[in-house]
Amino acid sequence: MSKNSWKVIFICVGILCLISFNAAYAQKKVGGGDIKYTPKGADVVTFSHDSHVTTAKLKCTECHSKIFPMKKKGVTMSKEDHAKEVLCGICHNGKKAFAQTVEADCAKCHKK
Ligand code: HEC
Ligand code: HEC
Ligand code: HEC
Repeated sequence: MSKNSWKVIFICVGILCLISFNAAYAQKKVGGGDIKYTPKGADVVTFSHDSHVTTAKLKCTECHSKIFPMKKKGVTMSKEDHAKEVLCGICHNGKKAFAQTVEADCAKCHKK
């Protein structure tokens, strides 16, 4: 084989490595990954892209950008907002997903 064919082979192998590395990385992190909120006066809330996109099968466009920006800005929701159809409450209203107003369900989002 000529020197040039070896060069081509090396470049191809390099590209394949990059592609598989990217695929492995993409599998680990769905969308924006896990996003942690630490409200004062309530336990930590972790929003999981994996459970919303992979498990609940929601499309990116169902949240981005009409409900949330595609950038962590911080979701601030007062206790009163929990009962309104805003932010998480657009779905977490007891119809599309578990509610934010049922005592037994608080711990599904707020974890110690
Ligand atoms: C159920 C709603 C929902 C769905 C569906 C969703 N996201 Fe998100 N995404 C969020 C929330 C909430 C945030 C954080 C917003 C904030 O804190 O201001 C976020 C943030 C992000 C961020 C920024 C992360 C960071 O650390 O800055 C990216 C990137 C992102 N999402 C990509 C995606 C992609 C790609 C998809 C589809 C595969 C997707 N999201 C689907 C709710 C969603
Ligand atoms: C576009 C609709 C939608 C929005 C907006 C949304 N969710 Fe969900 N969420 C769902 C659905 C559907 C499920 C799965 C069904 C169920 O458990 O009732 C779910 C499940 C969950 C779960 C249980 C699975 C897990 O990851 O532990 C948590 C916690 C959760 N959501 C938190 C949040 C938080 C926090 C927000 C706001 C930052 C939010 N969700 C916004 C639709 C949504
Ligand atoms: C679907 C997820 C979800 C459920 C269910 C939920 N919360 Fe929250 N809660 C949040 C998010 C997101 C925030 C905002 C986090 C932040 O501001 O950093 C929050 C914030 C709070 C705060 C702080 C408010 C403030 O003014 O700073 C309190 C108190 C609270 N929740 C209580 C509750 C109680 C009590 C329940 C059950 C009746 C509940 N939450 C159920 C997601 C949820």
